[in-house]
Amino acid sequence: MARQARAESRIIGLVPTMGALHEGHASLIARAKRECSPLIASIFVNPKQFGPDEDFAKYPRTFESDSEKLRQAGVDTLFAPEAAEIYPKDFSTYVHVEGLSERLEGRSRPGHFRGVTTVVMKLLQIVQPHRAYFGRKDAQQARLITQMARDLNLDSEIVVCPIVREPDRLALSSRNVYLNPEQRKAATILYRALEAAKKELEAGGRDALHLQTSLRRKLDSEPLAAVDYAEVVDAETFEPVVRVSRACYVLLAVFIGKTRLIDNLYLEPKAPESDEFMFHL
Ligand code: PAJ
Repeated sequence: MARQARAESRIIGLVPTMGALHEGHASLIARAKRECSPLIASIFVNPKQFGPDEDFAKYPRTFESDSEKLRQAGVDTLFAPEAAEIYPKDFSTYVHVEGLSERLEGRSRPGHFRGVTTVVMKLLQIVQPHRAYFGRKDAQQARLITQMARDLNLDSEIVVCPIVREPDRLALSSRNVYLNPEQRKAATILYRALEAAKKELEAGGRDALHLQTSLRRKLDSEPLAAVDYAEVVDAETFEPVVRVSRACYVLLAVFIGKTRLIDNLYLEPKAPESDEFMFHL
């Protein structure tokens, strides 16, 4: 199908997912639908990106309602392979993005990004899309995939889309279903901490250490929250910065009970070299 569509100069779009679809996924699909035809979505709960103590077995699987949602959203083809199709018994080739994969999420979840880049590489090879869509909710993942596409001369443009939030501003995530009502309320601390960081930046605060200290203090004010990391990093390298003076992420990973949630604030200079920023929250 991809070969034919390419021959007819049509723009093939791919939205990779692990299912348990929510409005975050829907936003990627809506954008891809506007820009591509045919549009392919994939559902694959990728065993290789889960650590041994992580939630692979209990990850929410809602295939029936997912496929109905995709059909209604105008997805032309749903690709939902079996694990044995993607990883036959003798599978032995992995894609690893050095450096970037080791930091932050990579440090907390060893092997996670190797699983992500390997499966995304395979999906891109199988589907051969012109454009593949990812969410900025998983900022480091999107950055890694962009790097992989560049390093390996992939013929797919990686498109990164904004974060979609609940009415109380919690970022949508398939893992939010793990939260009980009390934890669900507590989970809004991630957004509230990022909002406070945004205010500090808007008031001219540029000292990364100061920002980090305020973030920690805010997050620690929520008794149900246990911070994994709260950092200000360069948006290209994901290395910590001392002063905010270029495109940066404020990145959070926080446990609420056993559920690990991530969220971020993206800062983009209004003009090259400008000290004024646009905030994407
Ligand atoms: P999954 O968690 O299902 O997410 C699929 C895509 O939806 C990712 O690109 C993710 O960043 C995006 N997404 C999730 N929540 C979002 C939100 N609130 N707003 C905007 N986008 C959101 O990420 C994965 O699956 C996997 O790692 C995958 C890339 C499919 C590889 O297995």
